[in-house]
Amino acid sequence: MHRLLLDCDPGLDDAVALALAMASPEFEVLAVSTVAANAPIDVVTANAEQVMDRLACPCPLFQGAAQPLTIEARHSTDLWGGDGILPLAPPGRASKRLDREGFERLAQEADVVCAIGSLTNIAGLIARGRRPRRLVIMGGALGRGNATPHAELNIWADPHAAQIVFASGIPITLVPLDITRGLIVPGEMTAALTCADTRAARLVGELLPYAGSNAQPAAIHDAAVIALLLWPGLFTPERGRISVVTEGPEEGRTHFTAAADGPHDVLTQVVRDDLFRHMQRRLCGED
Ligand code: BDR
Ligand code: CA
Repeated sequence: MHRLLLDCDPGLDDAVALALAMASPEFEVLAVSTVAANAPIDVVTANAEQVMDRLACPCPLFQGAAQPLTIEARHSTDLWGGDGILPLAPPGRASKRLDREGFERLAQEADVVCAIGSLTNIAGLIARGRRPRRLVIMGGALGRGNATPHAELNIWADPHAAQIVFASGIPITLVPLDITRGLIVPGEMTAALTCADTRAARLVGELLPYAGSNAQPAAIHDAAVIALLLWPGLFTPERGRISVVTEGPEEGRTHFTAAADGPHDVLTQVVRDDLFRHMQRRLCGED
């Protein structure tokens, strides 16, 4: 069993990632933490609380960084419009809140910290000498970005934090935009999820029709992080070193240099149809 900490900015695809993690007995989710990226911190924390309530998630919630390390806060809603609020009813019960000390302790205890928002919270951990054992990060683009032609959103939202994280020596697997942008759930899968009777399937089936609207991404980028931990054979990694451009017109660009002795793994391919087949079965409680 992997003990996970999920550092997120829900976000529809973050919600799908949480649902997949909560539906998987391979994981114990120690905590959920939020960071501003998709939307301001109060919006993403309220979204996280609603998602956790719908999933009956028993773990605590930590509200993390509202601001990037150096630059002014910027969000996907600034780029693509909308308010970033997920279309869910207010939570029936409030999540138990974690303080910073508790967050830092659990981030070190976790076998894997899944970072699916900007990397501000993770850079903060490193600055305070609290190093996660392993990071799996959704972010970056080796080719075209989505926030700018050069930069993917999670890296663009705090490039200085991202550079600190990639230079830290912590083992990192990167799930880049190049393989996640095509992960758009087929209509028949959404229909099947809507009819299923598990919490995870119903939540995902309810949210997916909003994908592509109100600044909610259409692709389920962040769920690929959880899928990688569950079904690593569906992905092809390449070893090397990642660095981040922190200034100038290419700010937020991720550079990758292949190297057999590099500290990072970047995923370069995914078997998309198998991924969706596995995901549907897992969300529906069929395996
Ligand atoms: C990433 O940015 C956010 O919109 C998504 O939640 C995902 O983490 C994709 O670029
Ligand atoms: Ca996200």
